[in-house]
Amino acid sequence: MSDKLSFKGRVVVITGAGGGLGRVYALEFAKRGASVVVNDLGGSLGGEGNNMRAADVVVSEIQEKFKAKAVANHDSVTDNAEGIVQTALDSFGRLDVIVNNAGILRDSSFLKMQDPAFGAVIDVHLTGAFKLTKAAWPHFRRQNFGRIINTCSPAGLYGNFGQANYSAAKLGLVGFSESIAKEGYKNNINVNCIVPLARSRMTEKVIPPHILKNLAPEKIAPMVIYLSHESTKVTNSIFELAAGFYSQVRWERSSGQIFNPDPKSFTAEAIFDQWSSIVDYKDKTFNKVTHPTQLSDYNALITKARQLPHASQGTKTINSL
Ligand code: NAI
Repeated sequence: MSDKLSFKGRVVVITGAGGGLGRVYALEFAKRGASVVVNDLGGSLGGEGNNMRAADVVVSEIQEKFKAKAVANHDSVTDNAEGIVQTALDSFGRLDVIVNNAGILRDSSFLKMQDPAFGAVIDVHLTGAFKLTKAAWPHFRRQNFGRIINTCSPAGLYGNFGQANYSAAKLGLVGFSESIAKEGYKNNINVNCIVPLARSRMTEKVIPPHILKNLAPEKIAPMVIYLSHESTKVTNSIFELAAGFYSQVRWERSSGQIFNPDPKSFTAEAIFDQWSSIVDYKDKTFNKVTHPTQLSDYNALITKARQLPHASQGTKTINSL
């Protein structure tokens, strides 16, 4: 199987690959024949400082283990994303895959969170991914091929105490990915989000050791590899990955309630009366529970609402006012 998903001739950029998850991805891509740009500024968990050794060590590891081609880049994703792409072009002549993985944490309760902590986290995760993707995009379009993996988080999907900044950045990446997946589709540019949970310096102090021991970062890499491969057509999707569990996450819209076209029915009291129908995820008899993936998925609902006969004609509508 590993022969099947070969990356021979492909060039991959992984940001924040000097340690943690990014390092594991870099090794796995290299093992499968890719040429790898190992980007990392070598900062602390909070993003301070820079230790160029982090990326250099991973490059040496790749060269020793796999005799593969790898090069270090020490730019910050926030300051010189173009430079990261340029490193790929100068070193290997092309670019096929980007894994937006670089990240920092500046956790604090919302009460105590100040502007710099919010801004820095948005900058590295969201703006950094934007800048690198923007720099790679023309090359992907020109060659009619590109694979982009953006790294979200359970904190982004579900929220987490003390991580309002991080959650905003991570869910921002989902919206970003969903939009550019649509724009990239016709040029064979696939964009997906992963939602990992793994052992790294980010989690080692917050997850108990008996759980941490199951969270090897090597268990995240297979999905990153799969989604990045030329044979994989999956795009516009979110995958949750932890401890060997691989799943897809999607949006779900309740079956909802279409109110009577009579303008008198659009009132807060009508919402009050019909609350259980509005948030109903089980009722299959009226509108179906749906899993929207694009804006136009509203069209059917809007059409249905406009065509709806009045309550007196017996359709399930608001008629209690
Ligand atoms: P990590 O701290 O080991 O790795 C992050 C790397 O990004 C570090 O090597 C760091 O130097 C680098 N980095 C930070 N700012 C940078 C910048 N401006 N430019 C270039 N590199 C920069 O943490 P880990 O766990 O490996 O995280 C990887 C990604 O996965 C992050 O985006 C993180 O938010 C995400 N993630 C991790 C989870 C986990 O359970 N470990 C859970 C959910 C998401």
